[in-house]
Formats: sequence, structure tokens, C-alpha cells
Amino acid sequence: MDNLLDRYWYYAIEMAPGVITPGKRFPNVAITRDLLSRIDVKGQRCLDIGTMEALVPVILAKRGASGVVAVDGLDFGEKVAAVRQAHNVSFAYVPGVLSGSLVRSMEERVAGDMTEHRFAGGPKPRLDFDVVVLSGMLYHVHSPLHVLAAARSLLRPGGLMIVETAIMPMDAYLMQWNFAGTGYVYGPTDTWFMTVPLLDHFLRFLKMMPLDARWIPAGPGVARFACVARAVDYRPRLPAETLMEEAPWNLEHAALHRENLFPDPKLPPVPYTTAAKPVYRQGVGSCDLFATMQASQPLNVTPELVELRLGATI
Ligand SMILES: C[S@@+](CC[C@H](N)C(=O)[O-])C[C@H]1O[C@@H](n2cnc3c(N)ncnc32)[C@H](O)[C@@H]1O
Repeated sequence: MDNLLDRYWYYAIEMAPGVITPGKRFPNVAITRDLLSRIDVKGQRCLDIGTMEALVPVILAKRGASGVVAVDGLDFGEKVAAVRQAHNVSFAYVPGVLSGSLVRSMEERVAGDMTEHRFAGGPKPRLDFDVVVLSGMLYHVHSPLHVLAAARSLLRPGGLMIVETAIMPMDAYLMQWNFAGTGYVYGPTDTWFMTVPLLDHFLRFLKMMPLDARWIPAGPGVARFACVARAVDYRPRLPAETLMEEAPWNLEHAALHRENLFPDPKLPPVPYTTAAKPVYRQGVGSCDLFATMQASQPLNVTPELVELRLGATI
């Protein structure tokens, strides 16, 4: 444990009473956790993409999720095993899953589970998830729409996705590259910062209904933004977005959003309780994410929301 505590840690995680990893206490995970606390994850199958040291899976497992899969492009296996043991929870950790191979990795995993199921019985493995968390990822990838679509491809109808990312708080449909002319906005491995209206559009383009949002400031021209959206079986488009219906005519669309990966078993919607006052669009039913951001105060980030204490369930 001493050796592990000397390493780089992203999160401040309590590993034994009073013993906390020397994490960076980045505040953005607070907005993800705030939205997560409003999802009733009990009995739900959850996927955390870009899990880092598995803070989100620990919370999901403690709150009674029926199965949690945590994936990351890197391998933090030793730290994750220690965190899992310290918090006495169980979840699957799959390292080495780069976002471009997310869907294939999950398909191969389920194929393996299916063989085991045939020999050993037990519940039939499922490819789809009830809850998908995509937090702190989109500004790290070269093609955010592809990664959002891959995450959506694994979410069953009625399921919920939380997306958290760095955004530009502008009323426009833009993505800005991390280089702003005079220097890099974030670190050297970061990529695109999209605007909130564009994220809202992408979610609806991929058959998701935005429900709620949280944000915090993050320096000049940047904010951290999190939203929750429900998978639906249509595009909840706005009147000006009629052409969204023809999106599948694009030759790349079928590979972008894999719509037929699993049967639709008509499961009930995953319960979600809004806390603040999201601004909803009349006639469409979706939350207007940018209007909600403008109408709301930044989340009050408390230490409990950036550290993971042994007793934490949020
Ligand atoms: C900023 S951290 C976010 C951690 C956590 N999800 C959160 O919100 O606090 C980004 C994580 O995504 C992983 N990651 C970055 N780019 C990735 C990619 N292309 N494919 C898979 N994982 C990636 C990193 O290894 C890291 O664990």
C-alpha cells in the first residue's frame, strides 16, 4: 500500500480510515457524480468508459448496480484492484480498451461470456447496458462524435447516459481545437472542445433525449459540463432539424451508430429524478441544455464530491 500511495493518483481515494491517495482533486467529477446521484442504478447494468482509477464504478457498485463494467485505454489494474478491495465492492475492470475498439471489445467479451454460460449456466450475458457513463473523455479523443456514438450503441432503449466534458459556453454549433492561436487551451493530449448546443444536437442525432445538466467554470472561455440523456427509438429533433431524419443516408452512419446490436426487450425506463430546474423545449420534450446552463448556477463543488471516502455512496 505504501508503494502504491507513492504513485501518481488522479483521484483522492480513501484506502483505509484516514489514508487518502494523493489525488489531484479535479472538480469536474463532481458534476458527473451529482447527476449520477439522481439515477436509480439499483439492479442496473452500468458501463463506465475511461474509468481512470474506478471512482465511478465504486459508487455504482455501492449503490446496488447489478453489474458494473469499467473500461479504459490504459491499464491501472494494480491501483484499481487496491481501490476495489479497500471499498469492498465488485466490478469488472477491462484495461486496454481504446475508444475506437470499444464496441468490438464489448462484443468479444459477451461472446466469451456466452460460451461460459453455455457450459456453466447462469444468467444469459447481455451486450447492452442500462446506464453508460462517458465522463472526461470527449475532449481527449480525435473524433468525439464517433466515441459518443460508440457509447450510444451499447445503451439500451430507456437507458441513461451521462456525458461530461470540457465545453465552450457559446450559443453556436462549433468545435474548437485545443490550440487557440496563442497557445494550448488544455494539456497537449487534449483535442476538441465543443459547444453545448452542438453536444445537445449530437445527443438527439444519436437518438437520445437530453434530460438535465450541470456545469462549473473552468477558466477563460471553457467550462466543464455534464448532462444526462435517455436513449429513445427516434431522433427528438427540433423544427429546424427536419433533415436529421435523413442522417442514415450518410454512407458512414451505419458504422457510426450501431443500432441493431441487441434485441429491444422493452425494458422499463431507468428512473431519473431531476433536482434543479432544467429548461424543457415545448413540444419536443427535451431539455435545452444550453438554456439550462444559462439559467442555472454552477454546481457548488464540495470536498465530498471530489474525494472518494470509504462511506461515500454519491
Ligand atoms: C480525464 S480522465 C477521466 C476519468 C473519469 N472518467 C472522470 O470523469 O473522472 C480520462 C480517462 O480516459 C482515458 N482515455 C483517454 N483517451 C482515451 C481513449 N482514446 N480511449 C480509451 N480511454 C481513454 C484515460 O486513460 C483516462 O483514464
